[in-house]
Amino acid sequence: MSRSCQVTPSGSDPLVAGTLPRFRAGPRFAQAEPGACLACRRSAGLAFGRLEPPPNRLPDPILGDAYAEQVMRRLDPGYDKRRFGTSQMGLVAVVRTKAHDDWARSFLAEHPDAVVLHLGCGLDARAYRVDPPATVDWYDLDYPAVIELRQQLLPPREHYTLIGSSVTDLTWLERVPRSRPVLMIAEGLVPYLTETDVRRLLTSVVDAFPTGRLQFDTVPVWAWRTSKWDPTLRKYDAQFHCGFNTPAALAEWHPRLEYVDEAPMYDSPILMAKAPANARRMYRLLNLLPGMKRSTRIVRFRF
Ligand SMILES: C[S@@+](CC[C@H](N)C(=O)[O-])C[C@H]1O[C@@H](n2cnc3c(N)ncnc32)[C@H](O)[C@@H]1O
Repeated sequence: MSRSCQVTPSGSDPLVAGTLPRFRAGPRFAQAEPGACLACRRSAGLAFGRLEPPPNRLPDPILGDAYAEQVMRRLDPGYDKRRFGTSQMGLVAVVRTKAHDDWARSFLAEHPDAVVLHLGCGLDARAYRVDPPATVDWYDLDYPAVIELRQQLLPPREHYTLIGSSVTDLTWLERVPRSRPVLMIAEGLVPYLTETDVRRLLTSVVDAFPTGRLQFDTVPVWAWRTSKWDPTLRKYDAQFHCGFNTPAALAEWHPRLEYVDEAPMYDSPILMAKAPANARRMYRLLNLLPGMKRSTRIVRFRF
């Protein structure tokens, strides 16, 4: 089945006109839309500071993502009136994005000849934010319909390639150079895959490259098991398919794989520094519950 999504520059934007919602409709796209939207919303919400920021921006932004804000305005004409970017959920998503961006920047500073595999990219403008040197080749991969939408919303770049494929169809690996250090980034992707697929993905990437880093985030088993009742996931007809209580143990899947560390999320210093007072209070309370504090784990591995 072939589907396409179109965004036009005028008031006849198909998202508004009701044609883009088909993107949400079928099970094949069940996981596509939340990612695409979240990627934009959270980045865009914190894009710019002004003297009097509108409700969707922090006065002192965390990501400073100009592209995301532009994309979000095209997808949602009422975007500037919404509070998502400064809401509790919007903020914590930005913290995760910032952690992945910072890790990516530090890896690329040490490996300017790297190949980046940004898997389940959604509409996230990470390549533009990180802005790697021309010696890096960057690959953004997502389902074909998401990639088609990206092409309409974000400009091309040098040394930047889009791959429209399921990440589980590992033939996409044949399309990337495999003799250089690799950085695999999978933000918000792993929980949507089965454990079998995650294992095949990680071990195949390690087998395919001489050296590299893998950075991704996971949810614990309880979050996976209860995801069918999660109102946000239900809204988009999406569900998690795996969870890990000890993500560091994934290093045991491959003899060359070694766990490095974890980035803070709900207890992140940046969240506590930037969140409005009511959000900070809520996160402090949530952090008293070990299950909530570790309900998303941002982890990285090397080989
Ligand atoms: C929660 S979103 C995260 C998007 C983006 N990485 C971010 O952090 O904003 C999950 C993304 O993974 C993509 N995805 C889920 N399963 C996939 C699969 N099997 N192959 C490729 N992409 C997939 C979805 O289309 C969606 O864009």
